[in-house]
Order: sequence, then C-alpha cells, then structure tokens
Amino acid sequence: MRITSQTGAMGLIGHPVAHSKSPDMMNRACQYLGLPYVYLAYDIDPEKLEQAVNGMKSLKFRGFNVTIPYKVEVINFLDELDDSAKEIGAVNTVVQDAGKWVGHNTDGVGYLRSLVEEIPLKLSEQKVVMLGAGGAARAVGYALATAGVRKISIANRTVQKADQLAKHLSRWTSTEALALSHANQSIQEATLLINTTSIGMHPNTSQAPIPKSWLHENLVVSDLIYHPKETELLQTAKQLGAQVHNGLGMLVHQAAIAFELWLGKAAPIQLMKEVLEASLS
Ligand code: ATR
Repeated sequence: MRITSQTGAMGLIGHPVAHSKSPDMMNRACQYLGLPYVYLAYDIDPEKLEQAVNGMKSLKFRGFNVTIPYKVEVINFLDELDDSAKEIGAVNTVVQDAGKWVGHNTDGVGYLRSLVEEIPLKLSEQKVVMLGAGGAARAVGYALATAGVRKISIANRTVQKADQLAKHLSRWTSTEALALSHANQSIQEATLLINTTSIGMHPNTSQAPIPKSWLHENLVVSDLIYHPKETELLQTAKQLGAQVHNGLGMLVHQAAIAFELWLGKAAPIQLMKEVLEASLS
C-alpha cells in the first residue's frame, strides 16, 4: 500500500511495546481491505503519557490501543468512557469521535467472541470458575456476567481481590469468592474453567494454577495464555477428554473489535489469525 498525504493513523501505546503483535495484525488487515491507514507502536515513558495522548489527538489519529502499564492511567486523559471501560475500570482501545477521545475495553467481548467461535456452548447454562482476580479477570468476568452466565466463582490467591470482583459482578449474575487453594469443590460443579492468571506462561511452562486431580472431563477449560499455545493446564485437560480453548483467539478478536470501532468495517479475522500464528511459530 502506498503511504500518501491522505493516509490516516492509529497507534499502540505502552511500555514496553516491542513484543506486540498488534502492528503486524492491524497493518495487514488494512492492506487486505485497501484501507488507507497505518498502525505504529509507541513505547511511551511514564511521565510522557499525557503528552503522547494529546499529541495523537492533535495529529487527528483515528484512535489507539493501550497496553501495560497504561490501561488504567490513560483514563485520566480521555473525554468519555463506554460502559465496558467504566465497569472494567481499564481501557485498551481509544476512538476519536467528533474531536473527543472515547475509551473502550474490547478484551472481555474479544474473549467471549473467541470462546463461542471455538466451543459450542450455551452461555446461559454455564457455571464458571475463574482463576485470578486481576485486570484480565475483570474484563472477562464483566463480559461473562453481562452475557448471562448462570454463576461465576472467582478463585484467587488473594481472597480480598476475589471478594471485590465477586461483589462487583453480582449486579449481573450469581457470584462467589474463594481462595485459589479452596476451589476444588466449585470446579467439580462447574462447566467452564478459565485461567486468567499468568501461571504456566512462558518460560515457566511446567507450572499449573491448580492440581491436575481437580480437572474433569465435563469441563470446558480455557486459558488466556497464548505462549505456549497449550499450557500444562490445557494439556492435562485435553488428556482427560475435556474441551480446551487458548488465548490466541482473544488476542485476535480484541484487535478485530478495535479495528471495527475505528474503521467501521468487519475485520478480516482469518487473516489476522494467520498473521498472529506465523509470528508465534
Ligand atoms: P492481569 O492484567 O494479567 O490480570 P494482574 O492484574 O497483575 O494481571 O493480575 C494477576 C492475577 O494473577 C492475580 O489474580 C494474581 O493473584 P493475586 O491477586 O493474589 O496477586 C494472579 N497470580 C499471578 N501470579 C500468581 C501465582 N504465582 N500464584 C497465584 N496467583 C497468581
């Protein structure tokens, strides 16, 4: 694609950003659809966050993505938040709307789209155990709760954090908070187990968030980790005959929803998946 005086811009801000797969996915998607936009990653020093956000507004960026460590702090420099960003308390996508910066969070819906695309399940029948109560759990928990799952049990090492998230999500569904070490009984009664912690992520691939003996074949086991593609938790679940789902699809779908918010066109999901797979192999 030729870059001309008419080419528009989107970006990613974070610290660091060098590992990000988003520029490759977004630029390939724009090229594929013939859309005159480029997407670049910017490593922003902490004291320059406000300047960076204002600079992109002055330069009439169509919008930008936000990654670690700025997903919460960036809210200070935005004009409005959509419901997902308000309830999750974090922003991963910002859209310029008539000169206003509007914050969204596409992580939760991205997760949900990926899950239902890969695993045929009725959300209203799901009894969910979610391991972890951090930022990723807030996004996934909000999406599941507002999509009408039957129950969400939140199991976390720090029980107070599980408690806070369970209280927040109880506006939409039945919830309970547990210590991670006491999640066995709830897992036996669950239909969907989701790991939102980083336990099992590269390079600590031999670790698992719960003992193997707690898994059973009637579970769908979902892990937000995508490196490795199959964590120790997913390997064990698969051996037991459980259905498994990894974090790759969430990464693609959260990006696809951002793309759609900026450009008003359906994202080429399959192409974005291929770009991501190729970058990880
Ligand atoms: P993210 O945005 O990826 O969710 P986070 O907000 O830092 O990151 O949350 C990390 C989650 O993983 C938390 O639930 C954390 O548990 P605590 O709240 O007790 O800290 C969980 N986690 C990370 N490492 C863990 C470990 N070694 N054992 C148990 N839980 C762990």
